[in-house]
Amino acid sequence: MNIDGIPTRTLRARPDQRAFDIIDQTRLPHALHWVRVATLEEAAHAIRSMQVRGAPLIGATAAYGLALALDFEASDRRLAEAAALLRSTRPTAVNLHWALARMEAVLAPLPPAARAAAAWAEAAAIADEDVAQNAAIGAHGLALWREQLVPRGDTLHIMTHCNAGWLATVDGGTALAPVYAAHDAGLPVHVWASETRPRNQGLLTAWELDQHGVPCTLVADNAAGLLMRNGQVDAVIVGADRIAANGDVANKIGTYLKALAAADNGIPFYVAAPRSTIDFACADGAHIPIESRDGDEVRLVHGLDSRGVPSALRQLPAGGDVANPAFDVTPGWLVKGIITERGSCPASREGLLSLYPEEARA
Ligand code: MRU
Repeated sequence: MNIDGIPTRTLRARPDQRAFDIIDQTRLPHALHWVRVATLEEAAHAIRSMQVRGAPLIGATAAYGLALALDFEASDRRLAEAAALLRSTRPTAVNLHWALARMEAVLAPLPPAARAAAAWAEAAAIADEDVAQNAAIGAHGLALWREQLVPRGDTLHIMTHCNAGWLATVDGGTALAPVYAAHDAGLPVHVWASETRPRNQGLLTAWELDQHGVPCTLVADNAAGLLMRNGQVDAVIVGADRIAANGDVANKIGTYLKALAAADNGIPFYVAAPRSTIDFACADGAHIPIESRDGDEVRLVHGLDSRGVPSALRQLPAGGDVANPAFDVTPGWLVKGIITERGSCPASREGLLSLYPEEARA
C-alpha cells in the first residue's frame, strides 16, 4: 500500500542490524511512528501491547522475534523458550501459533550454528507469502463481487469491522484486499468502517483507506444495523483471527452482531483470510479460545487533548466492573463465503476442504 505515495510494508526487516522496524499502531491515527524491535522481549511486548496487531502481522512479527532470539543464542532450550514466550502473547489469532510452529519445524533439525540465518530467511518467507496471498485474496474477492453483487447505485458500498487491512498484515490486507483491488481497478467503492470499541481499530481502517484514496465513512458500532436496514450497504466483509474446521469464524468483538444484521437484511457477509488463519485442528467455534483483555481498555478512552497531546480520559472509576472479551464467533451459516488465496468457498467443513483437500483426514 502507498503511504505518502510510497509503496510501504508494515514491517521492515534489518537482519544486518539484528533488528526489525514496526509501526506503533497504538499511536495511529494521530502519528505514524516507526519503532525498532531489537530483542525477543521487545517483540513479545509489541504483540502483547498491540503495537502490532491483526492476525497475519502478529504471525510475521513472532517469526522475526524468534530470529532475534536466536541471534543471541540458538540452543534447543533457547528455541523452545523463545517460542513459548511469543506463543503466550495473544491466544485467539491462530496465525501466531501457525508461524511459530512453522519456524520451529524448520529450525529444530538444524545445528544451532545454522539456526539464526535460517530463522531470518524463514521469517522473510512468511512475510513475502503474506503479501502474495493477500494479493490473491484481493483478486478472488473482486471477481466474486463482480459476479455476486449488484450495487444499488453507482458505487459499491462495503461495510467492514475492526481493521483487517494493510495494517493487520505485512501488506495489502485481507478483508480490505478486495476493496483496494476494486478501487485500483477503477470500480467506485465506498467503505463504512465501524469504530470497533473498545480499541477503535475502525480508526485505523479509516486512516489507511484515506492514505490510499479510498472513500470511507467512520460510524459508531451501533449505527451498522440502521445502515443495513436503510439499503446503504451492498456487502459486509471482515477478516478473521481463527476459522474453525467447520467454517465458524472468530473475529473482533462485534462481528457476530454485524453478521446477524446482514442476514436479517439479505446482505452478503464475507470473510477474507489466508490459509494460516484456518485451524483444521479446531472442530468448531466453541473450541476457539477468546482473549479477555484488560478492563482499562473499556474504562478509559484515548485520543488527543485540546493541545493535541495524546491523552487518556477516564469514563469509569478504576476498579469499576467491566468485561472485555476481544473476539466473538460468527457461525458459518451466517457467512456467504470465505475468501482465501486459493479462491472462495462456503463456510463449512466441505467448503474449506474443497480449497484445501490436502487437509482431509480419514
Ligand atoms: O485485536 P486485533 O486488533 O489484533 O484483532 C484483529 C481483528 O480481529 C481483525 O478484524 C482481523 O480480521 C484479523 S486480522 C486480518
